[in-house]
Amino acid sequence: MNFKEAIKIADHIYWIGMYLENDPFQCHPYLIENGDASVLVDPGSMLEFDAVVEKINALCAMSKIKYIILHHQDPDLAASVPAMEKLIDREDLRIITHSRMVPLIKHYLIRSEYYEIDRYAHRLQADGLDLQFITTPYCHSPGAFVTYERKTKTLFSGDIFGGIGESWDFYAEDDYFERARQFHAEYMPSRDIFNYALKKIEVLDMTLIAPQHGSIIKKPQISPLIEQMKALECGLYLEDGYRNELLVSLSESQSHTLYLKEGVYWDYDRRKLFWHDSEIVLKPKERIVLTLLTSKVNHTVSSIEIFNHLYEDQPNRDFSSDAITSLIKRIRQKIPQDTIKSCYGVGYILETK
Ligand SMILES: [Fe+2]
Ligand SMILES: [Fe+2]
Repeated sequence: MNFKEAIKIADHIYWIGMYLENDPFQCHPYLIENGDASVLVDPGSMLEFDAVVEKINALCAMSKIKYIILHHQDPDLAASVPAMEKLIDREDLRIITHSRMVPLIKHYLIRSEYYEIDRYAHRLQADGLDLQFITTPYCHSPGAFVTYERKTKTLFSGDIFGGIGESWDFYAEDDYFERARQFHAEYMPSRDIFNYALKKIEVLDMTLIAPQHGSIIKKPQISPLIEQMKALECGLYLEDGYRNELLVSLSESQSHTLYLKEGVYWDYDRRKLFWHDSEIVLKPKERIVLTLLTSKVNHTVSSIEIFNHLYEDQPNRDFSSDAITSLIKRIRQKIPQDTIKSCYGVGYILETK
């Protein structure tokens, strides 16, 4: 295979990239040759600009390009657009992207107007083209999408199905998942969000997937690859520190629970303290104080505030800091060490961090 030339991958569809030596991150632009309304897909950065232009010129004049698809805002696919625009030199050149990408993409100093897919029912049926755009939000960009070329059943998948590695195969082998694994683990935000995107993709009748990185995937590999991808743990869940914090905050937001430490948590709805499934019995005053402190997590609460809260029905009662000190001492015996910290002369703080 001669990578110095454009490589036809489907009827009227060409790979027009270049092989970047010693770069595990190969970037692939494509051309849909379509007469006066040809389409450039993720044209790349200035690293590849000369090679890409040379390959386009071997297929058609630059002025034949009417559309440039940018599947998201990253420089490895979009940085060369201003230079491409100058060579294309067409007033009716349109940048096809999602409206959520435009505020970022415009910083490349792109001059052309945008064809925002979400304003056009995620479809382009014009000039003999039939392109369907499928949004894949947060994989890995908020406005990310993929493009399904309906005539050849080719999916231009942007970063999804990308692979990285020491060596590079133009067409994916059966072990491609191993090359795709690291890239997706690092770039896709989480398994559930990634699975949402995969579910929208897998219903398409695809003969070929042309990703922006890695290898082109032929039909026999598509379904097995998607199945393996579905089971992949990725993004925020990969690092233990993030994973645990995320699970805690998820559970707090879903169950109105505040995790303290060592399996101890406060149930806001029932105003009760638990260690795993067992309730830690609190006396009435202890419960009142914990209700107050858990409503002001990580903020200092003064002894006077605690006192007033405890005895709000007895406004004439004299403040006693000793009473608060001994009450806090009793509560501390029931919760993990250092959960309630003293701020000398100020009050107390219930810390979860
Ligand atoms: Fe990207
Ligand atoms: Fe990319």
